[in-house]
Amino acid sequence: MKQSIGIDGPAGAGKSTVAKRIAQALGIPYLDTGAMYRATAVAAKKHGIGFTDEERLSEFVRTLDVRVQYLGSEQHMLVDGEDVTGQLRTEEISQGASLVSRVPAVRDRMVELQREVAHAQRVVMDGRDICTNVLPDTPYKFFVAASAEERANRRYKQLLEAGQEADYDTILKDIVRRDKQDSERAYKPLYCGADTKRIDTTHMTIEEATQAILSEV
Ligand code: DC
Repeated sequence: MKQSIGIDGPAGAGKSTVAKRIAQALGIPYLDTGAMYRATAVAAKKHGIGFTDEERLSEFVRTLDVRVQYLGSEQHMLVDGEDVTGQLRTEEISQGASLVSRVPAVRDRMVELQREVAHAQRVVMDGRDICTNVLPDTPYKFFVAASAEERANRRYKQLLEAGQEADYDTILKDIVRRDKQDSERAYKPLYCGADTKRIDTTHMTIEEATQAILSEV
């Protein structure tokens, strides 16, 4: 069996763009694991459960039906049968996903689903704990990083290009807060393991970062 490719890194480092390109180049599916935590946050909000309410979240996630469905190469998230894909990319849900992902029962459930996907086929998976926890045995492990300022700058430009309002300082503050939450949580935090190749994209184009990984796999 060909082994899957894991890509971790902080919010906004370009992981998902790079991961999608690699998946396309190799002709295999891409699994965005952040979308699974985001879908859980959407479901918690809908049920009036606080993002930091560990007890209720732990109970809630036990029976939550979270599914990944592909329409063509596009990943959709279904929660209890409802397609919530269009609700995942707000600032509130970005923060909510970061908060619910601290809860061990939430993580264990998502990791179980992620391993099921990787067991069935070779995939490119990106997230925070893919190399250290979800797929520790794959030889293809990467950590895609960039300075917080550069990540905020990219996000800022992206929003302006999409015709949306953007404030650089607010974006930077949100990124720094999420970095701290994701890398300082007690259970399965974000970090670059000793056996993982670190790629700093601060001064790289997406194409260069993609090639750096493709040349290894
Ligand atoms: O990659 P993203 O920004 O869509 O992820 C949203 C949040 O989900 C992120 O701040 C932390 C959490 N997450 C995680 O803890 N583990 C993963 N494998 C993926 C995401």
